[in-house]
Amino acid sequence: MAQRFDVVVIGAGPGGARAARRCAQRGASVALVEKEFIGGTCLNWGCIPSKTLLASAHLLMRARSASEMGIDIPSATPNWPKIQQRRENIIVGLRKGMQGGMKSGKIAYLEGTAVVHSPTKVTVEANGQKAEIETSKLILATGSDSIQIPSIPFDGKVIISSTEALSLPEIPKSMVIVGGGVIGCELGCVYAAMGTKVTIVEALDSLLPMLDSWASRLVEREFKNLGIEALTGQKVTGVDKGASSAKVNLDDGQSIEAERVLVAVGRRAAVDKAIVSALGLEMNGPAIKVNKRMETNVPGVYAVGDAVGTTYLAHGATAEAEVAAANATGSSEEMLDYDLIPRVIFTFPEVASVGKTEATCQAEGMDISIGKGFYKANGRSVAENDTNGQIHAVRDNAINEIVGVTIVGPLATEFVAFARTLIGTCEPIRQITFPHPTISETLEDAVHEALGELLLE
Ligand code: NAI
Repeated sequence: MAQRFDVVVIGAGPGGARAARRCAQRGASVALVEKEFIGGTCLNWGCIPSKTLLASAHLLMRARSASEMGIDIPSATPNWPKIQQRRENIIVGLRKGMQGGMKSGKIAYLEGTAVVHSPTKVTVEANGQKAEIETSKLILATGSDSIQIPSIPFDGKVIISSTEALSLPEIPKSMVIVGGGVIGCELGCVYAAMGTKVTIVEALDSLLPMLDSWASRLVEREFKNLGIEALTGQKVTGVDKGASSAKVNLDDGQSIEAERVLVAVGRRAAVDKAIVSALGLEMNGPAIKVNKRMETNVPGVYAVGDAVGTTYLAHGATAEAEVAAANATGSSEEMLDYDLIPRVIFTFPEVASVGKTEATCQAEGMDISIGKGFYKANGRSVAENDTNGQIHAVRDNAINEIVGVTIVGPLATEFVAFARTLIGTCEPIRQITFPHPTISETLEDAVHEALGELLLE
């Protein structure tokens, strides 16, 4: 006999797991189905392993410059097998934690592939066994895949995606990274710090082209110091592959030989074709089409996260999951402004932004003022010997409100959520006492200047 649930969630990445937990917390009986590992791309092949490698790389860099702070460390070298083992241990530990959370939340965690027959009938297949389940509501959180360039197909050895790049058996001597976006720049930092000769090829005119140009320039300057070569405004025309290396050909005629070629040109929403046709889902290219309530065109079926192709961010997925879970359990909620979901990049230096960028404001013809804060003028940053960074706060002059903040520099990703609370405001900044000495005072400077209230010391 089929097991019955109020809500079945397919995919246990950040979006699916949050949807399952929130539905259960709101009193629904919930099954969460996952065909690979709990935690999805974020925990197993994305955010967490990349941040683990970046943390080791950052420590290595700090150790190498420690003498500037009066600490002599005779030799700091990476032990790659240990770094990899730590990555694996962290993933396994966090998977266990998530599984425990499902148990304590009374969520049925079902390992297997979900075969969807209708909005209310699903079969979970695992190891030749089939379990029939019935549900009132279905939430699809099936994630995304790396985009492949047809002329440079992945082979998993020489031409790799971010998945393989996170678990390489050894540190390569050289790596060409195709795509200077978030993944290319984060992994470029990891390998450059470890001693790999890294070249990033980016089709557009700057690295991290989604950022305002001042922020990209700051990152590019620091990348140069790290030894990363950035070839911007360049496309890869093809790759001549050997057994243990490849020659990457660019459209200006030059070619670069490297042991590994990491292709990081974006991710694409992924959902089984069979699920799309069984449900008759309306699609937006590869992504599932949803409205602001995260409803698909099929009543009772919701979709969230990378599968809907909106933010491709774990915290974007959880924000959408909150909305879908509320609506699937009797409430009525809508996704708010996507601009207010912070964008974070864990490069050296870190980058984070929220709200509108200067470029967007200019494209929209807005009258804006920019306030700037400089890490080099901040006491805590100087004490930490980490002064490369700036914060720009953007004011909409028509309404005298902060509409966007971009941070480049240490801890950017940590205090961008705080910057978010300043968006759409002008008064509260005066009521907030920024503790001294902290890096967050740089944000205070930027926002005060944007509001025309810079304190001259
Ligand atoms: P991306 O969209 O950030 O960057 C891809 C880059 O590749 C773009 O700059 C694009 O201009 C360039 N490109 C495309 N075709 C090219 C070609 N033929 N030759 C040279 N350059 C080319 O995508 P990425 O880095 O693969 O990341 C995928 C998704 O995962 C992104 O949406 C990203 O936001 C997300 N992600 C987020 C992280 C975070 O929040 N810290 C970390 C890692 C990924």
